[in-house]
Amino acid sequence: MSIVSMKPFSEVSDVEGFWDVRALTYNNGNPVPEERRVSSGRHMYAAEAEGKVIGCMSVFEMPTAVGARTLLCGGVAGVAVAPHRRRGGVGSEMLAWLPGELRAAGYALSSLYAFREPFYRRAGYEVCGKRLKVTCPTDRFPRVERPLTIHRLAPADFPSLGQAYEGFARTRSGMVLRSEEGWMRVLAENRELTVYAAGDPVEAYVVVSHNVAFWSTDHISEIIWSTKRGYDSVIDFLRQLAINKTALSWFEPSDSPFYASSMDQGIQIAVERPIMFRVVNVQTCLEGLEPVGTGDVSFSVRDAQVPENDRIWRVSWSEGNLEVREGGLPEFDLTIQQFTQVFLGEPSLADLLRNGGVDGSAAAILPLFPARPVICADFF
Ligand SMILES: CC(C)(COP(=O)(O)OP(=O)(O)OC[C@H]1O[C@@H](n2cnc3c(N)ncnc32)[C@H](O)[C@@H]1OP(=O)(O)O)[C@@H](O)C(=O)NCCC(=O)NCCS
Repeated sequence: MSIVSMKPFSEVSDVEGFWDVRALTYNNGNPVPEERRVSSGRHMYAAEAEGKVIGCMSVFEMPTAVGARTLLCGGVAGVAVAPHRRRGGVGSEMLAWLPGELRAAGYALSSLYAFREPFYRRAGYEVCGKRLKVTCPTDRFPRVERPLTIHRLAPADFPSLGQAYEGFARTRSGMVLRSEEGWMRVLAENRELTVYAAGDPVEAYVVVSHNVAFWSTDHISEIIWSTKRGYDSVIDFLRQLAINKTALSWFEPSDSPFYASSMDQGIQIAVERPIMFRVVNVQTCLEGLEPVGTGDVSFSVRDAQVPENDRIWRVSWSEGNLEVREGGLPEFDLTIQQFTQVFLGEPSLADLLRNGGVDGSAAAILPLFPARPVICADFF
């Protein structure tokens, strides 16, 4: 039997109880100040028991690129259960409820950064992609011939970064298509950061949080590129920036150009800060697919939280037309976690087949689910 009832923040009567749970988990126990209680594009939900809020979570509306498509993704953040109610199943109930709620609200996807992945895996989320952290000692930066001119920009110049960002996002999955507020969160949340951009129009850029320390290892907040010469040019700029540093680090997706052509002894590359995704609306995801050739395949998706997803799907395609129906004899089964991965593209369906993670004659469906690096440059 259910321990809690879930509701949107607007229906909560124990408002102070809500902010109290947040304060105890995310504000060192200090009251959450008024100005941090409002945020556009954020929806908040509460778990109540006997009229008291004992759990809360937020969802950010994040239009997200999946190749050329844009799908609405609910970015889950601020998940918290009152300390004296933890480890009693409340958080699990909240997460079991959320995917269906997001689907009903028009989302196709959801994403989050987990404190521990198995907790969210139970609710259908799964790690997608591999965020690589490159740490390059100063004397290991490659030299680049004829780099593009680097110019310095401020957060207010974010519109001139849009083309490079879009080029990066549309060849991958998982990147948030940022509003002005989204750009400001990345470029100027606590203080204004500095942007160094290559080329005009911009073909690549890095976001730098300048640090006065000498011989430190500094982290570059963001590196984005839409061309190879743009990428090479900002790497050359990092070589300049690193002159009084021990090393610089930054994140790249799994198709890392640095790993592909600049690896050297002493450079470290590690997977860090994985993101989890979950498809909340299988039908929406299937309907926009654009496979080449002709095909007709049925497969089942198993989803313990969202009954509308949990069925046999039949997809037929021919010369640019695609039809999604229910039924047929399933040739293979996907858990919702696997469906999410193959839909976004990493691990791809080919990866899962190679390792035996998916059984059956799934090869017929390969054109539907192309491999794509999954990465999200936003942290929430
Ligand atoms: C993380 C958090 C939201 C989880 O909520 P919760 O109510 O404590 O979680 P649950 O009780 O549903 O599940 C936690 C564990 O209890 C177990 N559990 C679930 N129901 C249970 C029950 N009825 N009796 C005993 N154990 C139970 C679960 O199996 C799980 O065990 P595991 O960690 O070994 O897998 C909560 O602990 C919290 O607020 N933590 C601090 C903030 C935080 O880390 N937030 C997450 C940010 S991503």
